[in-house]
Amino acid sequence: MKYIAIVTGASSGIGHEFAMALDQCMDAVDEIWIVARRKERLEELAGKLRHHSKVISGDLSSRLTTNRISAMLSSEKCRVRFLVNAAGYGILGDFTKGDRKEETGMCDLNVRALTDITYVCLPYMGKNSRIINLASSAAFVPQPSFAVYAATKSYVLSFSRALNAELKDRQIYVTAVCPGPVRTEFFDVAEKLGTRTLSMKKWAMTTPDVVVKTALKDSFGKKEISIPTSMMRAFYTLTKIVPHRIIISFTNRLYH
Ligand SMILES: NC(=O)c1ccc[n+]([C@@H]2O[C@H](COP(=O)([O-])OP(=O)(O)OC[C@H]3O[C@@H](n4cnc5c(N)ncnc54)[C@H](OP(=O)(O)O)[C@@H]3O)[C@@H](O)[C@H]2O)c1
Repeated sequence: MKYIAIVTGASSGIGHEFAMALDQCMDAVDEIWIVARRKERLEELAGKLRHHSKVISGDLSSRLTTNRISAMLSSEKCRVRFLVNAAGYGILGDFTKGDRKEETGMCDLNVRALTDITYVCLPYMGKNSRIINLASSAAFVPQPSFAVYAATKSYVLSFSRALNAELKDRQIYVTAVCPGPVRTEFFDVAEKLGTRTLSMKKWAMTTPDVVVKTALKDSFGKKEISIPTSMMRAFYTLTKIVPHRIIISFTNRLYH
């Protein structure tokens, strides 16, 4: 039996940081599988890891990649100790002005692929296995000019919390990570149509190491939600108190 950790979106940003952190702290794992499209980035990361690793380069929007992972799990007799779902993207801008393929692509990757890989890995998970899903503080309330992205992250948050409850008896723990803005390549993609991230959001920017350190601590602490900064914890509380129509209308005015 081989014990493994799987990290999607490992070629950059938060996923890359997760792979590095698991490499340092997970002695109970034999191998780390790193997944993304950019093979050369993954190979570079593999070269830095102490653990054996497996580079899986593929587009997770396509079922072919998850089918490949499923076949590998079965043939290599694996036990998945950690699944980190970090692959994801967002595109800022009005829905009707966005590209059809990119708008629906967020659903394919952030929602469908995350659900599919979780489904594929669960038969190989057991007591004390962990799933960490990258949601976002965008999950807390609908966001004009980030409509599809925020909706996909609401799905991730809702799905993760429900799954965490379902899996409690099997002692498998699911944590949804909900950071505000994080300094990564995410914004190169998010701002590609010209819509700029609000400066108040950029002011609240944190770094991938803070997100990952907090997420691992919360995952080991069996918490269902991980919010890495006090500012985003305050925002979370605000979204529980202030009617959403007021926050939505305020955000809409900032963008238009
Ligand atoms: N940065 C933020 O402000 C922020 C805030 C809250 C939540 N998040 C979430 O955190 C997660 C990681 O984002 P990040 O900030 O680390 O962004 P990032 O640096 O842009 O990383 C995104 C990762 O997803 C991978 N990816 C994108 N499309 C893919 C596809 N079709 N198939 C396979 N892999 C794909 C990318 O690799 P390839 O391009 O090589 O495929 C990359 O490794 C995302 O789910 C994001 O929504 C980010």
